[in-house]
Amino acid sequence: MSTIRTNPQVDNDALREMLFAGELVVYTDIPAVAELVAHAQHELKSLFRPHDPQQAHAHFSPSQLAEMLSSWKPRFMRLEKSLRLAKEVLEQIGFNPSTTHYDLLKPRTSYPVGHLTTGIAYAFPWHRDTWYAAARQQINLWFPVWEVRADNAMGFDPAGFGQKVPNNSSGFDYYRRNDERRSLAKVVGKDARSQPGAIDWQVPHEDILLISPGQILLFSADQLHRSIPNTSGLSRYSIDYRIVDVTDIEADRGAPALDVACTGTAIRDFKRVSDDGPMPENCVRILEPDGPPADVTLTFTPGG
Ligand SMILES: [Fe+2]
Repeated sequence: MSTIRTNPQVDNDALREMLFAGELVVYTDIPAVAELVAHAQHELKSLFRPHDPQQAHAHFSPSQLAEMLSSWKPRFMRLEKSLRLAKEVLEQIGFNPSTTHYDLLKPRTSYPVGHLTTGIAYAFPWHRDTWYAAARQQINLWFPVWEVRADNAMGFDPAGFGQKVPNNSSGFDYYRRNDERRSLAKVVGKDARSQPGAIDWQVPHEDILLISPGQILLFSADQLHRSIPNTSGLSRYSIDYRIVDVTDIEADRGAPALDVACTGTAIRDFKRVSDDGPMPENCVRILEPDGPPADVTLTFTPGG
């Protein structure tokens, strides 16, 4: 059974507890989400003009798309308007800007099966973001740029939340991934990177939440989810980003994360909402008590 809550009228501590307990939360009326969608639509139309972005796969080869996206995505993430609206979304939902830390907006593209589905447009199988070195305190925010459909959206396995699922996350190291990211745009065919996923996992009741542009979905980084292989015939665009409230790290609150075996932590990627200050070192040390190994790439700067 899954619990999906809409526009909860609760304080922010209670909201985070709901997410850590496995609820999915949708907000339908956040003005900055609608502004971000209009901004992303405008940017994507400019990128693909004169073509319809949802038909981009019909006009560009997989390698052309990979090249276009690998320069557009980092630029979009850093636009002043993108950064400002991402923070406004958080404040309008009620996250505390002086304790909440965020990472950059991540535009996602999903092209129809048979087109670009690797590297920069990788279709993720069943996984938790905690298997990719996300903290169990992490909350993900996701919204579509155009309407999504059951054959090109994201699926959840709510029954897999809070239970151990066989997976290969032990093969994933966040700092090694940072090295691999430098060459991501070159991955057009076979993708040889370690991609944590569930092993032999059957999902009899997959939940597909089809929220509309202007609405936003919040979920714990410990939710089991996947990209649905895109058989819609349309290019699909969505945006997501992640947040962590340092008070959750300090109080040891968060999702269960019972089956996580990866190494490293993504926590250094997060900046304080109020002033873009770094994640406090005491919080990094709570998550990585022994500190990182020597000579590793702690963070990756997209497009940098
Ligand atoms: Fe994910």
